[in-house]
Amino acid sequence: MTRDDKTSEDRAGKDRATEAPATVPADDATRSRHSKLSIEILDANKAYYAASSPLMDDAAYDARFQELQALEARHPELLTDDSPTQRVGAAPAAGFAKVRHARPMLSLGNAFSEEDVAEFLKRIRRFLNLDEAEELAICAEPKIDGLSASLRYERGRLVQGATRGDGLEGEDVTRNLRTLDDIPDVLPGDVPDVFEVRGEVYMSKPAFQALNEAQMAADKPAYANPRNAASGSLRQLDPGITARRKLNFFAYSWGEVSALPASTQSGVLQALDRWGFTVNPLTRNCTSLAEIMAFYRDVETRRATLDHDIDGVVYKVDRLDWQDRLGFVSRSPRFAIAHKFPAEQASTILRGIDIQVGRTGALTPVARLEPVTVGGVVVSNATLHNEDEIARKDVRIGDTVTLQRAGDVIPQIVGVIIEKRPEGTEPFVFPTVCPVCGSHAVRDTRASGELDVVRRCSGGLVCAAQATERLKHFVSRNAFDIEGLGAKQIEAFFAAGEITTPAEIFTLPRRNDDLKLETRDGFGKTSVEKLFKAIDERRTIALDRFLFALGIRHVGQTTARTLAATYRTLPALLDALNAAVKDPEGEAHQDLINIDGIGPTVVTELMEFMAEEHNRTVLDDLLGELREVEPFEAPAQDSPVAGKTVVFTGTLETMTRDEAKARAESLGARVSGSVSKKTDILVAGPGAGSKAKKAAELGILTLTEQAWLDLVNGA
Ligand code: IVH
Repeated sequence: MTRDDKTSEDRAGKDRATEAPATVPADDATRSRHSKLSIEILDANKAYYAASSPLMDDAAYDARFQELQALEARHPELLTDDSPTQRVGAAPAAGFAKVRHARPMLSLGNAFSEEDVAEFLKRIRRFLNLDEAEELAICAEPKIDGLSASLRYERGRLVQGATRGDGLEGEDVTRNLRTLDDIPDVLPGDVPDVFEVRGEVYMSKPAFQALNEAQMAADKPAYANPRNAASGSLRQLDPGITARRKLNFFAYSWGEVSALPASTQSGVLQALDRWGFTVNPLTRNCTSLAEIMAFYRDVETRRATLDHDIDGVVYKVDRLDWQDRLGFVSRSPRFAIAHKFPAEQASTILRGIDIQVGRTGALTPVARLEPVTVGGVVVSNATLHNEDEIARKDVRIGDTVTLQRAGDVIPQIVGVIIEKRPEGTEPFVFPTVCPVCGSHAVRDTRASGELDVVRRCSGGLVCAAQATERLKHFVSRNAFDIEGLGAKQIEAFFAAGEITTPAEIFTLPRRNDDLKLETRDGFGKTSVEKLFKAIDERRTIALDRFLFALGIRHVGQTTARTLAATYRTLPALLDALNAAVKDPEGEAHQDLINIDGIGPTVVTELMEFMAEEHNRTVLDDLLGELREVEPFEAPAQDSPVAGKTVVFTGTLETMTRDEAKARAESLGARVSGSVSKKTDILVAGPGAGSKAKKAAELGILTLTEQAWLDLVNGA
């Protein structure tokens, strides 16, 4: 069971009707007990939702929750809107205002081996077209295991501090961040007008130990690890609590800036150091793979002696002009990578294998384990990937298995310790029918003739598991993100037949005369009002979120964004898809396949989705409930190539093809692989052949590489 199965709404409201309010107001001891319980529950919620690591088991959580409810039932004056009993969904840090980051806060790609690092360096050299002799300086530093924060300084004064959140939007924790010694309120001297400093908030090992000792002495639950403790401590509604918890901050990056104090990563770090920030003293520039690996090993050997947790090292291209040219892929910079330390391992007993049915019908085996601590976190579930993996490792129920956990990824079973296998175990037989709806579960044959590794339930929307998973996906954070409507609520509404399609989420408020949610267990009047408000707010939605929310196979966030960026509006995309469905040999179909980053598999899935009558009904009903699917906003509207479809052909001389494409996209252009009527500009280098000919026939503007550069550089 997960905490998702037991959110606070389940408990809110219980007992309230049967407890008569007291006539005497709460005394000091009661008030202080009330606030202590509230803080503990909020902490536990945050740890659970934000760090997937519970601070207390469900029984301890329930006991506190019920005590809090009972107190509020006896003393209604203690019941405020921000009490944890009133929270719908217990989203992390619901009490903080949202902050839209001026520049997204990115994540990093990972390297796990020397080969991965070598490939990273090669990729950069290839992208920038550097010759062997050219030095590539890499700024290397430890990767701190904490949580990232962004500090906005305007005219040298700290005006806002925010957590990373989903990278685009975080929480305003300014007051809490101000309490950290490593974070100056005012920067000295002549600093740029706007400067967002980014870095990692963390708790040192000694501070973590002291905090846990104090927690235990006060009969409060201990934190699982320093990162959870830092996260819980920073995201306190009362900054006084943050101030008492000793947190630190390493500065390592920046967001929006009006000017930069240096032209290299290491130079900016030196400036940050002068301005009063703490920069990691182990930071070093390396110029070869050998030097980088020596740095990695050196940091790894120091790891145990450092006073804080690190989980790897980070490498960044030192020259900032090169960082700019390299740009980003999806949500990670091309110019940086995290080189992780090996995953921590442990062994335990496999008690069972459950089969979960996902949104697209995939049957996923999940290992149920005897709980074991791996890298400071208690693990009781792990993924077994698919039936071939189980067979390959011959994993049997009752076996002692080795599992590993790297960072935030789901723990995985590495293998079986055969010597410990008890007698009488049987090889695991993977089901060939869906455990939820009983439909056949089959493995498709891929185009290559190979059998797909994934076995899928063929029940489609007949399968309750697929239908609920789709709805859960629809409301999830990167999709419609409806606060107060989480996995648990979707399951309950679905089971009751009250929400079976996305449109029915939006008709919920209209149906409430019949449903009377406020009278139900787990829903107070306030939480119902909040839920309806959250639903109403999402009647306007960005096109890429909308597309992602539909849960079409292979249409993840990046693909949804590419489609949105290409077609800009929903009607334009739907027209193209309908035309492609009508004429699979036609131009609309070809245009779709030509989009860079969209392969034939995605196009087939999109067309199958559109061809299905049921999906069209679901889509129409949903659109009938929405106010607006907002057209995609190009990142740089003022650039002369924003919104234009560009094709590169022939040999480019000043930049690689990858770089040309990335640059064009960052200026809001769409890059396509082939010329059609939709092409606006063809950039043709020497050796351009059939594409140049076709462009000439179609009367499409054809530019030399230099003319293109003049255009985008504003010459
Ligand atoms: S640089 C554009 N440097 O790791 C660069 N990140 O896995 C963005 N982190 O979200 C990040 N130590 O929270 C950078 N020295 C370091 C870091 C570091 C820890 C965290 C950070 C980021 C995550 C990415």
